[in-house]
Amino acid sequence: MIRGVAPPLLEARGIVKRFGPLLANDVSQFSVGAGEVVALLGENGAGKSTLAKILYGYYAADAGEVRVDGRPVTIASPHDARALDVGMVFQNFTLIPSLSVLENVALFDKGLPAVLPRRDIGEHIRRYAQRFGFALDPRTPVRELAVGDQQKVEILKQLVAGARVLILDEPTTVLAPQESVGLFATIAEMRADGLGVVLITHKLRDVLACADRIVVMRQGRVEGELDRAEATEQKLLALMFGDAAVRTVARSGAPLRADAGECVLELAGVSTSGGRTPLRGVSMQLHAGEIVGVAGVSGNGQRELADLILGVLRPGTGAKLLWREDASRWPIAKVRQAGVAAIPDDPLALASVPAMTVLENLALGDGGRYRAGLGTDWEALDADMQRSFARLGFPRPAFAAAAATLSGGNLQRMVLARELAHAPRLIVAVYPTRGLDARSTATVRALLGDARDRGAAVLIVSEELDELFELCDRLLVLNRGAIAGEVGRQDFRAEVVGPLMVGVRADVA
Ligand SMILES: Nc1ncnc2c1ncn2[C@@H]1O[C@H](COP(=O)(O)OP(=O)(O)OP(=O)(O)O)[C@@H](O)[C@H]1O
Ligand SMILES: [Mg+2]
Repeated sequence: MIRGVAPPLLEARGIVKRFGPLLANDVSQFSVGAGEVVALLGENGAGKSTLAKILYGYYAADAGEVRVDGRPVTIASPHDARALDVGMVFQNFTLIPSLSVLENVALFDKGLPAVLPRRDIGEHIRRYAQRFGFALDPRTPVRELAVGDQQKVEILKQLVAGARVLILDEPTTVLAPQESVGLFATIAEMRADGLGVVLITHKLRDVLACADRIVVMRQGRVEGELDRAEATEQKLLALMFGDAAVRTVARSGAPLRADAGECVLELAGVSTSGGRTPLRGVSMQLHAGEIVGVAGVSGNGQRELADLILGVLRPGTGAKLLWREDASRWPIAKVRQAGVAAIPDDPLALASVPAMTVLENLALGDGGRYRAGLGTDWEALDADMQRSFARLGFPRPAFAAAAATLSGGNLQRMVLARELAHAPRLIVAVYPTRGLDARSTATVRALLGDARDRGAAVLIVSEELDELFELCDRLLVLNRGAIAGEVGRQDFRAEVVGPLMVGVRADVA
């Protein structure tokens, strides 16, 4: 390994960053070398994204030094970072949806010249895409791409612009497991090309699959470092959370209850016309006291299904029944007042208002509950939410802070604390553990199990079969807006569910 001989490609020393009273970063040393993949790990709010944004010039550090190729440099903006061949892919993508792949890449590289050298750039894109195993047509408008492909464009535009260091902030969070495998292959190619890669992730499996070295952060500091050869899941968890053991899900293990409870939700031949993937003839039942999983590759109608249940979308044909009442035309407020909680797939865009405070966000969507005269009973809300955070075992963010300042995982925790505060009778949870660290993930899974055990009906949408197999009593598989099959616990195996997810029907195969 060249480390120790050549200076690191990118190195940070003595980085300090405060947000008001909060010490977000106090990093004595962090580096990535040429041909090295460094995983950056740590619990929600540990300071990973802050460090990455400092290295990319998005935030200015209060103190400290950054070096590229051993030379001290000033990275005061992402523009400076790019000039030094440091690239970053944020968790919230920064592509322009109406422009094509080619235009997005060109815009980033050249600031979009008046006459676009389309042929050159197209050639460039194709060469990189091929080298890294991306199948992308440069002419496709970005808005038509699945999330996984949008991420490829993000990576591509950094590579075409000549990045030698690439920082990826939780790239696999939005990817299906098979897409993650593709990303790891790409990362291996980058390593072979001598790039330095910083991979931020919560998935220990990702880390063990592709990192050469693992750096663990805790409360703004580097808590420890392991080489891949000496790393195990246990060691990493211990570094991340200290002695406090991660609670594993004590699933009751109860098989699918034969005495299924009251029918909480029924869809009878529902088709919709709104949304990106219209639902086609969806029929299903969900009972009190059961967890039903919806498996499928994202973009196959999951968001539309959740919107339909919540009343954001209405059935075009067919009917939706809640507690055996026709609820097809119920407004959202009525659905929520009936005790329906919803964890949507994109908390930033769909479940929160970033400019409002955390407390204001916690009041959202609970029409009436905290109304006091013309105002809001902030004290009651505050007390309820403190209780909810405590029950979830989540550290409580400053309720007066703007939601925009929360870390990715803390934002998801905020939505969970709000939605699970009042013992909902029906929980629609779309990717409920997205962005959460290992400990919070375990807690949320256990709580969904508890909710089931006290008689709630739970619908979990996820792409992660491990998560679904662990939690659910049975699975429905969504493919292109239709239910492709139902799978009972006895058949919880990837070989059974996988083919249904990609549209191969078991009874045809
Ligand atoms: N712009 C900001 N203003 C105020 N506080 C901020 C800002 N950005 C981050 N913070 C705070 O700094 C701390 C570290 O946040 P950071 O986003 O770096 O965490 P993280 O390790 O990336 O967590 P996650 O795994 O949840 O993404 C958090 O407490 C966060 O609320
Ligand atoms: Mg983060």
